[in-house]
Amino acid sequence: MRCVVANWKMNMLQGEASTFCDTFLEGYTPKDNVQVAVAPPFTLLTAVHDMLREKGIITIAQNGHYAKRGAFTGEIAMAQVKDAGANGVIIGHSERRHLFGETDEVVGKKLVKARAKGLLPVLCVGETLQDRDSGNTFMVLRQQLQVVAQAGPGPLWVAYEPVWAIGTGRRADLAQIQEAHAFIREEVQVAFGVPGTNVPILYGGSVTPDNFGEVLGVQHVAGALVGGASLDPAKFLQLVGIAQS
Ligand code: PGA
Repeated sequence: MRCVVANWKMNMLQGEASTFCDTFLEGYTPKDNVQVAVAPPFTLLTAVHDMLREKGIITIAQNGHYAKRGAFTGEIAMAQVKDAGANGVIIGHSERRHLFGETDEVVGKKLVKARAKGLLPVLCVGETLQDRDSGNTFMVLRQQLQVVAQAGPGPLWVAYEPVWAIGTGRRADLAQIQEAHAFIREEVQVAFGVPGTNVPILYGGSVTPDNFGEVLGVQHVAGALVGGASLDPAKFLQLVGIAQS
C-alpha cells in the first residue's frame, strides 16, 4: 500500500481548510492501493476529520505529548488528539527536533504513548546538511531509529526527510533516497523481524507533482510526506493521482 500525507504545518484557517476539503473531495476517487492522510493543525483536527473520513482519508495530528495529562501549559496529550478525531500522529518531525529541541528520548516516549492510545505513529528521521557533508548520514539515521527497536513491533510509518530538503525546493536525488530507504528498511527489519517488511517508508522534502513519479519508482519508497505542495488541493490531488496510477 502507498501512502500520501499532507503536512499542513502551521497553515490554514477554518475557512481555508473547508475550501481545501471541498475542492479535494470533488476531484478525489479513493483507490485501495493508496491511503491518503491529512495532518492539520490541532485547531482543525475535528473539522478536517469530519469532512474527510467518509472517503476513507485519515487525519493525523502534527504532535502529541507523552504525558497522560496535567500541568503542561501549551501541550496536548495523545488522548486529546485521538479524542479530536486523529487516527495518527507525526512524531519527531525535523522542525520539532531542531526548532523545539525534541530529543530522541522524547521522540521515543511519544512513540510508545501514541501506540498506547491507538494512534498510528508517523516517525520522521533525517540528517542535516552538516551531517551529510561530514559523512554521518547513516550514523544519524541509526541513532534516530533506535526508538523503533526500543518500542518494538507495532503500527508504524516512517518518513525519511533530509532536513536540507525540507521546504528548500532541493529534493534529495534518487540515489540518496534509495540508499537511505534501503538502510531504514534494514534497520526496521532488524528491530521488528519479518513484520518490518510491511512498514511503509515515505520520502519527504520538496516533493511536488513534477518529481513525485520518479521518487515513487525508487525501491522501498511507499509514498510521501508533503509540506508546501499539500496546501494546494489541486497539487495534492495530482500527488494522490500519481500514487494511485
Ligand atoms: P516540504 O515539507 O514538502 O515543504 O519540503 C515536507 C515536510 O516537512 O514534511
